[in-house]
Amino acid sequence: MSTTTPHVLLFPIPMQGPVNCTLKLAELLCISNISVTVLNTEHIQRNLLLHTNVVSRFSRYTNFRFEAISDGLPEDHPRSAERFMEMFEGMKNVTVPAFRDMMVSGCFSSKSECPVTVIIPDASFSFALDVAEEIGIPLIYFETVSPCALWTYLCLPKLIEAGEVPFNGDDLDVPVKNVPGTEAFLRRRDLPDFYRRDNLTNHTMQIIMKEAQYVPRAHGVIINTFEELDASILVHLRNVCPNTYCIGPLHTLFKSRLSIEPKLEIQDPQSIVSNSLWEENRTCLSWLDKQPPKSVIYVSVGSLAMMTVDQFFEIWHGLVNSGKPFLMVKRPGSIIGDYDDNQVPKVLMDETKKRGFFAEWVPQEEVLAHSAIVGFFTHSGWNSTLESIVEKVPMICLPFYVDQQVNSRFVSEIWKIGIDIKDTNDRVIIEKAVNNLINLKRNDFIKSLNALAKSAAESITKDGSSFMDLNRLINDIKSIS
Ligand code: UDX
Repeated sequence: MSTTTPHVLLFPIPMQGPVNCTLKLAELLCISNISVTVLNTEHIQRNLLLHTNVVSRFSRYTNFRFEAISDGLPEDHPRSAERFMEMFEGMKNVTVPAFRDMMVSGCFSSKSECPVTVIIPDASFSFALDVAEEIGIPLIYFETVSPCALWTYLCLPKLIEAGEVPFNGDDLDVPVKNVPGTEAFLRRRDLPDFYRRDNLTNHTMQIIMKEAQYVPRAHGVIINTFEELDASILVHLRNVCPNTYCIGPLHTLFKSRLSIEPKLEIQDPQSIVSNSLWEENRTCLSWLDKQPPKSVIYVSVGSLAMMTVDQFFEIWHGLVNSGKPFLMVKRPGSIIGDYDDNQVPKVLMDETKKRGFFAEWVPQEEVLAHSAIVGFFTHSGWNSTLESIVEKVPMICLPFYVDQQVNSRFVSEIWKIGIDIKDTNDRVIIEKAVNNLINLKRNDFIKSLNALAKSAAESITKDGSSFMDLNRLINDIKSIS
């Protein structure tokens, strides 16, 4: 790695969605002659090595390297959503000081062979900006949640000042007034789940408060969206963070940029790109091949969300009662409590044998692109939402945490591409939602999806907004390095 080239350090939060986005951005920077180091936690790095071809894939870039850092937790810690705060504690005690050492006097410092010239960490890593300011190098945050969620974070100080957060009383249908641009449709229940807690001292609220203070101070913020999708939010967000790089949908921008990269000679980038932390079950694709066109409901709650046994059975019953074929991801560890296959009612087993398929993890982008898929029952994670928009698949949204509550409101009320069933746990509601998605509301949803997918496709073409914002990011990295 030459010391004369710009050297970016990418540092994702250790979760599937952000790691996936980071690796895609890393490749895009590598092909633009920027030296890149991805700093993963050791736990993430181990899983990537186990389940993906990242090592061979990245070996084609002489300007790339992986580094790993401890997350401060023992190897056998489950790192589940329920115990996520323990990870932040571990990071605070172990990762943060180790990161500072690396930057100030260690392998990334100005004294090293290849000093880092720009840091691009996850937007929740406020400590990274402290270090960047201490050593005097620029930092650009990478926000992998949706812009609408980021906007609710940035408005948190205002919501607190106005007395809207913490909530006064239990009514979740009260309209929210202090998130500009959303006054007509945002209710308390659509704010990120942690806004529902009744005190502000909990750890998550502290992290979000810090993010609201730190993100505007950075050189800029990279967001995974395209202008046309989020124009109504970006106009407000830019009052606080003027320098935004909107480079989404990142997964399609990535595919199109790599496919035209002459140095790589990639025929089919889709077939070789997996950043999955679990092993993908590809046999689901052969099962999909056997299903009628536009017939299957795909079900996944992403990489983090955890369901109770009861919630899982309600979803399963709802799907079976709808009479439609379904492909359901049951991620290892995604069910809280004692789940036993022997407790499964016979009717569910019998009907699932006829028209269901379970997998622990699937190649989701390929699944959503399959002609047999008619709808997506989703947790409304931001990557899943964008992937569904690109493939024009309408959604049934059952959000769990973080940005998912806000995303699902935008899906149903603003983009009009799906049904939001947040805060319910009922097989009858699920069955009805499936039927509405496929019959009653399908034409309206498809009309909106066609328009959004067209804008998404345009945004990544040579004159498109996301393509140009990526170029601007690359040029800025080179000039500020
Ligand atoms: C988390 C948060 O929950 C989410 O709200 C936030 O936007 C990002 O961090 P996660 O649960 O990982 O996200 O959901 P999502 O953002 O949708 O990302 C999941 C990724 O895993 C997607 O890219 C999806 O394609 C992939 N995936 C999911 C698979 O490849 N296979 C699967 O079986 C399920």
